[in-house]
Amino acid sequence: MVPQKETHPPESAEVRENMSSAEMVVVGEKISIGKGTCFLCHTMGSHGSRAPDLAGIGGRAAERIEGYSDIDYLAESLFEPGAYIVEGYNPIMTPAHKAPISLTQPEVLAVIAYLQSLGGSPTVTMKTNLKYSADPSATATPAPTLVVSNDEASASYDNLSGDELFNKYACMACHSLTDPVQLLGPSLYDVGDRLSRAEILESIIDPDAVVTEGFVKGVMSATLQGAGFDEDITPQQLRTLVEFLSQKKGS
Ligand code: HEC
Ligand code: HEC
Repeated sequence: MVPQKETHPPESAEVRENMSSAEMVVVGEKISIGKGTCFLCHTMGSHGSRAPDLAGIGGRAAERIEGYSDIDYLAESLFEPGAYIVEGYNPIMTPAHKAPISLTQPEVLAVIAYLQSLGGSPTVTMKTNLKYSADPSATATPAPTLVVSNDEASASYDNLSGDELFNKYACMACHSLTDPVQLLGPSLYDVGDRLSRAEILESIIDPDAVVTEGFVKGVMSATLQGAGFDEDITPQQLRTLVEFLSQKKGS
């Protein structure tokens, strides 16, 4: 979903107090793709191995827990993901209002509107009082204008270069950047010529979606998962990596 809809995760999503439901859905989608990093784990319209597919979640949400409305369930999924574990999955999702994701209350409301819109209709508003609060001192009424930047929460470790990230996540163990030699994975020395930025992004966040001919499916995804890549990587780091690789055009 990310690669098809957006070439880059968005820089920022502007959350306003008086957004209509339709506007909340648009902003909520941007937050989910960008700052929320939801699609590092979740899929949209294909069976997810790491996390449940979110297609149709707006329709399913009200049926998950007896006595819970769809908003109740979605709020709990975001604030206390460990409270109800979807069958077949591990409790690896961290609460969306805490680091590293750190969504604010208005952002959570927008994300809930977006999730409701997937197979249902958004009934949440910017004034809805959830059972949970991102900040205990926060009221349900958000500040008039709030500009959310992807970079704030993780600025401290976001200044690594593409080269450094490539080493940090052990990409170099399987990919050559300097020669057209195959290691466990294909050489990436000319990947910027072969793949668009969107395709590079998809190869990294969902390596099994398109498997390069002649290579084994699952090797890269399993290794990155084992290394905690999904939990570690930030949207800013992803952008840096994709930009770095898109410049590799052979020698
Ligand atoms: C680190 C991986 C990861 C990230 C990031 C993540 N999730 Fe999850 N999420 C999971 C897993 C695994 C489950 C299933 C286990 C559970 O219920 O806790 C889940 C469950 C859910 C559910 C319940 C799904 C259902 O079918 O009942 C929703 C809704 C959800 N996540 C939304 C989100 C949203 C929105 C974001 C971004 C703000 C997000 N998740 C980020 C891994 C993740
Ligand atoms: C354990 C080995 C391994 C590691 C570690 C690994 N990859 Fe891969 N990678 C592969 C394999 C195998 C493929 C080909 C199969 C596929 O597409 O999943 C691949 C495919 C790719 C592709 C698509 C290449 C093409 O020519 O189509 C990109 C881009 C990529 N990897 C980037 C990365 C980045 C960035 C990292 C580090 C964050 C990384 N890989 C870590 C093994 C690995």
